[in-house]
Amino acid sequence: MSRPSIAGPCAVAITFLAVALTGCQQELPDHFASSSQVEKLPAELREQVVRILEEHCGTPRAPRPLGIENPDERHVLRGRDLYQFYCAQCHGVSGDGAGPAAAYMYPRPRDYRKGIFKFTSTPYGAKPRRADLLRTITRGVPGTSMPSFRLLPERDREALVDYVLLLTHRGEFETQLAMEAEFEEEIAADVVPELIDRVLGPWRAAESQEVHPLTPQPPEFTWQDIAAGKKAFLTKGCAKCHGEDGRGLTAENIGKDAWGFATKAADLTSGLLHGGNQPIDIYRRIVSGINGTPMPGFRNALQNEPDTIWHLVAYVLYVSDVRRRGVLPPAAPFRRDTPESGKLDLASTPSGAATPDSP
Ligand code: HEC
Ligand code: HEC
Repeated sequence: MSRPSIAGPCAVAITFLAVALTGCQQELPDHFASSSQVEKLPAELREQVVRILEEHCGTPRAPRPLGIENPDERHVLRGRDLYQFYCAQCHGVSGDGAGPAAAYMYPRPRDYRKGIFKFTSTPYGAKPRRADLLRTITRGVPGTSMPSFRLLPERDREALVDYVLLLTHRGEFETQLAMEAEFEEEIAADVVPELIDRVLGPWRAAESQEVHPLTPQPPEFTWQDIAAGKKAFLTKGCAKCHGEDGRGLTAENIGKDAWGFATKAADLTSGLLHGGNQPIDIYRRIVSGINGTPMPGFRNALQNEPDTIWHLVAYVLYVSDVRRRGVLPPAAPFRRDTPESGKLDLASTPSGAATPDSP
């Protein structure tokens, strides 16, 4: 009696895997998937929308950036190939955020088609600047499944930015076309350039809308700043969602995001600030809010007390470090000439080091 051989099934499995893997790189669908809004249109209008979209944005095999006369085709295809390889499993071939790996992630991979991005250097409601997307791709979104691609050469990351923009603009243009089809029951040829402008206008505008701090960043944050920040955190409404200790364990801390998923303010003490841990990143989160989420912008509320914004930044930085007990706070931006430095104990935070009375 010979022992049952596993070589056969194994070889089959390995061949299958190899085919599947090379398959995902080579097999691009003929068409981008349509949004549910377009799917619902009567057949004739739906076909018209798809035709106009393909004329201006191409297909996965032959993609075209919206509104660019003579695109650098090699650059576009390079972006497409990198995207297929590194991003599509999460963000989807069409940029709908519904790649095969997406279903169980929290937060979900971005659905680019709404044109809404969270981590921007622009005011609330504005588009991101190109540099913002490049930064997100380079740095990733710490604390979520969005990885960092800093090891890719910059040219490749630039090509990825352009491909993300291609999918985003395509998605926004698709929405415009679908709305036009719904309300007008036809898409007149002369309205198309206007719709393209409506999509691209805010992107062009965003490039010059970078948010600069109202007052310069202090050279370092002192315990007094942290204490003032804590006071503001408790009195300006932050604690309502983030909790007094920044851990987000409050009843109010649940909402829906612009993509229809449940969302909540992440634990600020986790040490993983999604939007970046530089003071300017946190400053912009507070001033401009976070697009598509319940996090509001505090520009109007705080513009008459601009120093408070930096105090809040100091407090958020302090809170985001409390879990690393025993680890010295970074040399900058904290000043180390206090007895507390080096001992950041969560238990001692509420009434300890950071209260205004006992700095
Ligand atoms: C393992 C899954 C995964 C992969 C792979 C992935 N992403 Fe993401 N990506 C995410 C998640 C999750 C988010 C949402 C993070 C959040 O909402 O805080 C995201 C968000 C983004 C955003 C939006 C950031 C913002 O400001 O709103 C961009 C842009 C992005 N990813 C680009 C890419 C690109 C380009 C690639 C490939 C080079 C890629 N991602 C690969 C999971 C992934
Ligand atoms: C209505 C609820 C709400 C209020 C009020 C609120 N936040 Fe938020 N905050 C959120 C949510 C939700 C997020 C997470 C958004 C996301 O990334 O999905 C967030 C995110 C943040 C972040 C980004 C964290 C990161 O990972 O990068 C910071 C910093 C922050 N909030 C600070 C503040 C401060 C300071 C205040 C008060 C001035 C405040 N928040 C008020 C809901 C709120």
